[in-house]
Amino acid sequence: MGKKVTVVGAGFYGSTTAQRLAEYDVFDTVVITDIVEGKPAGLALDLNQSRAIEGFETKVVGVTTGPNGEGYESIEGSDVVVITAGLPRKPGMSRMDLLETNAKIVRQVAENVAKYAPNAVVIVVSNPLDEMTALAQLATQFPKNRVLGQAGMLDTARFSNFVAEALNVPVASVRTLTLGSHGDTMVPVPSKSTVNGKPLRDVMPAEQIEELVVKTRNGGAEVVALLKTGSAYYAPSAAAARMAKAVAEDSGDVMPVCAWVDGEYGIAGVYLGVEAEIGAQGVKRVVETDLDADERASLLEAAEAVRAKQADISSM
Ligand code: LAC
Repeated sequence: MGKKVTVVGAGFYGSTTAQRLAEYDVFDTVVITDIVEGKPAGLALDLNQSRAIEGFETKVVGVTTGPNGEGYESIEGSDVVVITAGLPRKPGMSRMDLLETNAKIVRQVAENVAKYAPNAVVIVVSNPLDEMTALAQLATQFPKNRVLGQAGMLDTARFSNFVAEALNVPVASVRTLTLGSHGDTMVPVPSKSTVNGKPLRDVMPAEQIEELVVKTRNGGAEVVALLKTGSAYYAPSAAAARMAKAVAEDSGDVMPVCAWVDGEYGIAGVYLGVEAEIGAQGVKRVVETDLDADERASLLEAAEAVRAKQADISSM
């Protein structure tokens, strides 16, 4: 049967995600929804008119949803639902400043997803990411493997880009990794980072790696400060769309994602940025990688920080 993916939220993040998903041409249908009257239908019409040029057969359907779940019947049968709903940051805001506002929005969306697409894999991208992922799992009551968040691929891509720029090498020759939270306790992992197969630490001085680690951690905020009216979407949507594609194709690709951790790294009972194998049921397996002592300590710190915040969201 043909695959169906829904993107909830037709802001820049949602619309660029829908575009990428349509252009992959692996789905029969991409549904994009929003609460703004007409906007998703307009975007869908526009995207469908690009089909003859870009050469994809996927049909895009745009639906405005109402306060009582009106319109959500259009997501029925979705294999994957990407939740982008919620407000983005404004300059000077931390992702955590969005917690209460976005919790209300994400909870409502997740409840409708559970009702109309009970077999979907849910990929959350709303901020604060780790907390909104945990909330979506609570609100849907889906098995934890079927709810995951996008952040690690984005943070990793930012780190790789900064390393490639600093060394003036092709980005394809750079491998990096970030784990932990999508926030202050993000954990870039230099010990697992390479350039042309050589350890990053052999080709870049420690102080410069640290500089790029800080730049990666602030990667989103730097974009927000420049845009002034929203947050990043090209790199974020690239990451979210790749995750949705991995689910649709049951690829088994290993990606850094926000996943439920249950004993890996000695951490349990929390949504956290880790590497995981992605397939038709979401997270097939969390992949534990060797970390050096510092990185391991940072990951534990991230887990405790996220755990404290995730405890708050059950009441939101
Ligand atoms: C960012 C937002 C999307 O990191 O969290 O750009």
